[in-house]
Amino acid sequence: MTDPTPHPTSSERPAPGFRGDAHTRRGGGGGDGPRDDGPGGGGPGGGGPILEVVDLVRSFRRPRTSLFRSPGAVEALRGVSLEVRAGQRFGIVGESGSGKSTLLRLMAALDQPTSGTVSFRGRTVSGVPERRLGFLRDDLQVVFQDPMGSLDPRMRVADIITEPLVAQGHGDRDARLAELLDAVGLPDGAGRRWPHQFSGGQRQRIAIARALSTRPRVLLADEPVSALDVSVRAQILNLLADLVDAYDLTLVFVSHDLTVVRHLCDTIAVMRAGEVVETGPTAAVADDPQHPYTRQLLGAVPTLQGALAGRDAATLARRARADDPEEPS
Ligand SMILES: Nc1ncnc2c1ncn2[C@@H]1O[C@H](COP(=O)(O)OP(=O)(O)OP(=O)(O)O)[C@@H](O)[C@H]1O
Ligand SMILES: [Mg+2]
Repeated sequence: MTDPTPHPTSSERPAPGFRGDAHTRRGGGGGDGPRDDGPGGGGPGGGGPILEVVDLVRSFRRPRTSLFRSPGAVEALRGVSLEVRAGQRFGIVGESGSGKSTLLRLMAALDQPTSGTVSFRGRTVSGVPERRLGFLRDDLQVVFQDPMGSLDPRMRVADIITEPLVAQGHGDRDARLAELLDAVGLPDGAGRRWPHQFSGGQRQRIAIARALSTRPRVLLADEPVSALDVSVRAQILNLLADLVDAYDLTLVFVSHDLTVVRHLCDTIAVMRAGEVVETGPTAAVADDPQHPYTRQLLGAVPTLQGALAGRDAATLARRARADDPEEPS
């Protein structure tokens, strides 16, 4: 793994800078990110958000069930505005169907909004053809919930991990593969194997290695442990947290579990029915929730916190190799 970069503690992390008045907004609003992201790190001046969403609306047509009645539409997002700054660990929480995945897919330009815009480092990405999104595909990657669904079963792990690298025309494939396998705690020989030869936790390690292959600045994760066995969830969460530190990543982390987001993220946005109802620094939102829905969420979460204490990526990776019964020999 690369040398870990000194990282600020949660208390030193910036307050969020959100737009929009539709939701409860707290904190310093628009604090500078903890790292100097270089020219254009955020916006063109270097000081803006790395990722900005303005008044995002996404409607889906309902399937037609009657010849005589119009099927109508589902408003998955109803005017969401938020900013993510370089170095932030930005958690998005909310109940099932609140629009979290829709928002994340739009942030990654994997879907187009009905209206509103998404910008990455000051450049609009919504409505832009794929062939002109190279800068985004290099710098922003996504880890999805279901590692089996997101890995092509007909490709060897080495090809899966390095595919984004090759697609972007980068050359150092073999050295990068070895580095990535080590970083996510997979054995050297894993590259020659197939996805079905790995356990769920290991497959998510492969998906994380793939996401990191282009050395992105921003990692979006959509419920990355919800499909995994409870026994490996904390390992994968701790690995993610350590990689975010080591590679100095900006993280956007979607979960329905406020306890996990509270542990991983310095900033929280709470979503309900397609809207952000409350945002702010994690401590403020979790310790003194203003919106009744946030209070409801806080009262309803299961706990992973004990398992998350005392994390160490190398130890966890070793433990995963040693303990996992499905580890290929
Ligand atoms: N492709 C689609 N076609 C039709 N409706 C959709 C589509 N994608 C999402 N929706 C609808 O949009 C709403 C928001 O869905 P979304 O998947 O974003 O929620 P979520 O917060 O990620 O939920 P979960 O926690 O269950 O993953 C839901 O009502 C969903 O049924
Ligand atoms: Mg979802």
